[in-house]
Amino acid sequence: MKSRLHPIARAQRGLSKTVLLAGIAVAAVATAGATALLVNIFERRQEAKVTTTRLVEVTRDTTDPAKWGVNWPKQYDGYKLTAQLTRTRFGGHGGSEALPQEKIDRDPWLKRMFLGYAFSIDYRDRRGHAYMLQDQENTQRQTKPQTGSCLNCHGAVMPLYRELGGGDAMKGFEMSYKLSYKEMNQKLHDMGHAQTVTCPDCHDPKTMQLIVTRPAFLVGIQKLASSDAATPFAPSIERWRLAGKARAYDPNTDATRNEMRTFVCAQCHIEYYCSSAMPLTAPWGKGLNVDQIETFWNETKLPSGERFFDYKHAETGAPILKAQHPEFEVWSQGVHARSGVACADCHMPYARDGATKVSDHWVRSPLLNINRACQPCHKVSEDEIKARVDLIQSRNYELLQRGGVAITALMDAVLAAKKDGATPEQLNAALELQRKAQWRLDFIAAENSMGFHAPQEAARVLGEALDYARQGEVAASRFRASPGKVAAAAGR
Ligand code: HEC
Ligand code: HEC
Ligand code: HEC
Ligand code: HEC
Ligand code: HEC
Repeated sequence: MKSRLHPIARAQRGLSKTVLLAGIAVAAVATAGATALLVNIFERRQEAKVTTTRLVEVTRDTTDPAKWGVNWPKQYDGYKLTAQLTRTRFGGHGGSEALPQEKIDRDPWLKRMFLGYAFSIDYRDRRGHAYMLQDQENTQRQTKPQTGSCLNCHGAVMPLYRELGGGDAMKGFEMSYKLSYKEMNQKLHDMGHAQTVTCPDCHDPKTMQLIVTRPAFLVGIQKLASSDAATPFAPSIERWRLAGKARAYDPNTDATRNEMRTFVCAQCHIEYYCSSAMPLTAPWGKGLNVDQIETFWNETKLPSGERFFDYKHAETGAPILKAQHPEFEVWSQGVHARSGVACADCHMPYARDGATKVSDHWVRSPLLNINRACQPCHKVSEDEIKARVDLIQSRNYELLQRGGVAITALMDAVLAAKKDGATPEQLNAALELQRKAQWRLDFIAAENSMGFHAPQEAARVLGEALDYARQGEVAASRFRASPGKVAAAAGR
């Protein structure tokens, strides 16, 4: 039996034995704390045992979660519940069970910001993992040509990457951006892997240890490790740097179990660039905060040689950066990350099941699960925790809406100046400020915790967004105020 365990699991078992003995010594002093520790250690030993009993063999190509469910029914039961409708004040989704609500209808300034890009056609609330493939297949954004890279985060794409790359997933991944979404999606269906995020995306089938599989994440985190950005949320990166960087940082061997409880989610809940112009990119080569990512994009060149942009704004012509769900990046800037609190601590908290603990695979808003998600660490009432979160989110929401007003004023000022005859060169300063303001505003709007993951950082970013938007408005208005230009434009 023992030989089936992964070396790390074996080390952990050994370690918990030592700790157990130490625990017994302390328990002799009969403190309540030590008893709690013993219970905890006992439960963790039980957890390790879970991995040894199997009724069905599973491999990395077993993408059907029901097969894994035979071995691990409790995790599978939770996993299936991601098909349930969830709703909190800002989390889960509005709209109906058939279709989540349009974000761009709820906040018309979002739609205006995205004019010239597919997000102005259809951009809805997210919902549970069970829907990720169908929601991607059905979005009206598919009325524009999309790349095969889209599937990276919406389907069980690893066997397909391996097939494309002749066994080498990284090679297959590097080819996939050139294929169309329709082609890749068809292949996925043909191979029988039309499945949403599934057990082998996060688990090694032999050991059940957490693993990360997505190539874009592996490349991105290596670039982050190789940079000199501080990473207090990932101590293993700092250790790897001190050890001399002789080989590439590999989260699957270098990261701690606790870090992996975040990294599995950071395979998808991140800012990215995805098109047929270059492989799917996680922009972490300068660090994870909004300014560092902006610098990374500003230094990236498109195949045309131009400075990177996602789209040109249809009304103003500004070369815009579009932000996508940067949960990992925003989390990394907060006090929970610094304290070693992982995504899974709040979104997949342990539930007791007899003497064992089961991680809740119903990934959802922690506000639906406060006693297990927050109260193990925060010994205050559920109502008080709810009130604290609500205060953080309300402040963030109000500042965000002010940002929406400010970016609208900037766009109006640019349009007015254009009407008065301003050339793109004359509006250059205003358009650069639109790019900066919109990047920051979108970064917090697209992030799905309404400021909770790092409240102070979110406020800082929104403060900068407001300032840049108003500076841009002033820059554009300055042109309009010049009577000579107005006269010239009017042909006088
Ligand atoms: C300290 C607890 C905590 C940690 C750690 C944490 N989150 Fe959250 N997360 C929350 C809370 C609270 C919300 C707000 C939920 C709501 O508004 O209903 C949230 C919201 C979200 C949402 C939107 C949920 C919904 O129902 O719409 C996503 C997605 C998310 N987090 C992903 C992540 C990821 C990925 C990580 C790790 C990089 C992470 N979270 C780390 C507490 C946490
Ligand atoms: C790096 C991972 C990643 C890639 C690549 C990715 N997505 Fe997503 N997508 C997510 C995550 C995470 C969510 C849920 C959070 C959210 O909605 O903000 C999501 C949500 C969605 C949704 C539901 C909400 C909405 O936006 O209406 C659609 C539809 C969608 N993606 C389509 C696409 C398309 C089309 C592409 C390719 C252009 C794509 N995705 C590429 C990670 C990704
Ligand atoms: C393979 C990519 C992928 C991975 C890995 C992933 N997610 Fe998601 N997640 C998504 C997508 C895509 C959606 C949106 C699905 C939709 O709207 O159809 C989503 C939705 C969510 C939601 C919203 C649920 C709801 O009911 O509204 C939460 C919360 C969440 N993810 C948290 C996490 C956490 C925590 C992890 C890590 C344990 C994780 N995700 C791992 C892609 C991923
Ligand atoms: C998005 C990533 C993700 C997916 C998909 C996923 N898991 Fe997990 N799983 C986790 C995390 C995180 C843990 C906690 C691991 C830890 O603390 O070391 C976990 C823990 C487990 C454990 C160890 C016992 C426990 O509950 O903590 C088992 C067994 C397990 N998962 C089975 C499954 C099965 C079966 C599936 C598919 C139906 C699945 N998992 C899908 C992330 C995932
Ligand atoms: C594993 C332990 C742990 C869990 C789980 C946890 N927290 Fe925390 N939380 C901390 C630590 C540590 C701090 C930092 C402050 C300190 O050192 O006391 C903190 C700080 C906070 C703060 C103040 C700082 C800030 O970011 O505004 C709030 C609010 C908070 N937590 C809410 C929550 C909520 C809500 C949940 C559940 C969704 C949660 N926490 C889950 C450990 C945890």
